[in-house]
Amino acid sequence: MPLNKLDPSKLNSWKELGSRFKNENSITIEELMEEPNRLDNFSIEWEEFILDFSKNRISKGTLDQLVNLCNESKLKNNIESYFKGDIINETEKRSVLHTALRSQKHESNEISQIVNELREQIINTADKINSGDRVGYSGKKFTDVVNIGIGGSHLGQEMVVEALSFCSKGITPHFISNIDPDYTSQVLEKLDPETTLFIVVSKSFKTIETIENAKKSKEWFISESKGQNIRDHFIGISNNTSAAKEFGINKDSVFPIPEWVGGRFSLWGSAGLIIAISIGSENYRELLNGANSMDKHFRESDFENNMPVLLALISIWYNNFFKCETEAIIPYSEVLNKLPKYLQQASMESNGKSTDRNSEKVNYETGGIIWGASGTNAQHSFFQLLHQGTKLIPCDFIAFQKPHSKDLEQHKILIANCLAQTNALMSGQKKEGAHKYIEGNKPSNSLFINSLTPYNLGALIAMYENKIFTVGSILNIFSFDQWGVELGKSIAKGILNGDSDFLDISTKNLLTKYNQEK
Ligand code: F6P
Repeated sequence: MPLNKLDPSKLNSWKELGSRFKNENSITIEELMEEPNRLDNFSIEWEEFILDFSKNRISKGTLDQLVNLCNESKLKNNIESYFKGDIINETEKRSVLHTALRSQKHESNEISQIVNELREQIINTADKINSGDRVGYSGKKFTDVVNIGIGGSHLGQEMVVEALSFCSKGITPHFISNIDPDYTSQVLEKLDPETTLFIVVSKSFKTIETIENAKKSKEWFISESKGQNIRDHFIGISNNTSAAKEFGINKDSVFPIPEWVGGRFSLWGSAGLIIAISIGSENYRELLNGANSMDKHFRESDFENNMPVLLALISIWYNNFFKCETEAIIPYSEVLNKLPKYLQQASMESNGKSTDRNSEKVNYETGGIIWGASGTNAQHSFFQLLHQGTKLIPCDFIAFQKPHSKDLEQHKILIANCLAQTNALMSGQKKEGAHKYIEGNKPSNSLFINSLTPYNLGALIAMYENKIFTVGSILNIFSFDQWGVELGKSIAKGILNGDSDFLDISTKNLLTKYNQEK
């Protein structure tokens, strides 16, 4: 079944939420804390995760209406359509099955077979590279692997590889994404062609940044290796496998991305090869298992006890009723500093839409702006505005209860800071003079996870992915296309082809200035 078509703003629960907002928005979080069973009603535990969402401007009555919104918008049916592989990406006529990539068995045998074959291919390749069975032209083991890809073919991979660097099998990962010649050269300069493996990841194999960087890396390899064949040194990962082969990659080194895997959700399949190489295949399987377990939680739990659903509802509430434009993600773990950047694409490319599933312009807010940085660094940059600025910015605080390091004293300081911030945001400081007055009443979710493991990281990413799905499902938009990014690409192509007649006067003038300077 395709996703249902609706107007959420016409649902009774939406209207009820509107009146609740009017009546309750002057109630403070501190007052809401006095509600009976506040902590029981506003926290859930799942496996090694604890989500405390009690520090929100949401009463129990509002929470019930938000859950009602899920029921009225037929979220359950939509979740089933998503997992089963129905054509829910209607504008591109595709299923959306990245969840199948991390499952042991999908209800369709055909999908299961494709997934298992792909997974084994990736795992075998990673194992061979790590064991030294697959080597470079001179017979030496690879020491460096370079992922050439952008957007969904880069952000998740880099974030995971960095977060799980403590699992490293010894091969150094590098990432080339931007079409910035200075940066590409800088990365290449450090490498030795004899022991470097390049993975070109592009679902379309048409993305200009990736193709140009791949060409440049190929030229660099041939020149630095004094004319060696690229055969053992280039792997291509794409839905457009023929283009990868035409580029010169050996057919045994071209791995497919099925059409039903969206770029920004592709790290779970062949596009995750650099992850499997970096952390080793056992840890890679654990990453998938954790994500799969979170998928089961999402698919099977009641909405009241469902982490991705609750996070989505909280997001819709602030975005649509409080008119908060942004939400911040603050992981108290330095190795997770790229999580906000990754979630920016996953969420904003998915839910940054203003046409609904009826092809009408929406009259409510859709996806918000996602941003953030690691704590405590963020405390020393933008937290001032969170505490005393004029904007209301809901935050997700993410912390791990056990560090990998034995330095528990330092970890105590990290966690004390995390807790202190959520408390300060909520309670503020009322007694001091004008400039020291901190209003408080600023909402946050706290997610405590036992420790950073491949399994828990997989679950964390899947939690946010499923939150994104839920937001799109309720807000009646198509979350899995990205038509908005195509326009700029075609204009750039026009400029590169020397066609500037269609440009506005400002852009044309800047182009002329650039051409004069060259
Ligand atoms: O610019 C948008 C986009 O299409 C993303 O959705 C995608 O992740 C990225 O470009 C890269 O695309 P590809 O994997 O086809 O090179």
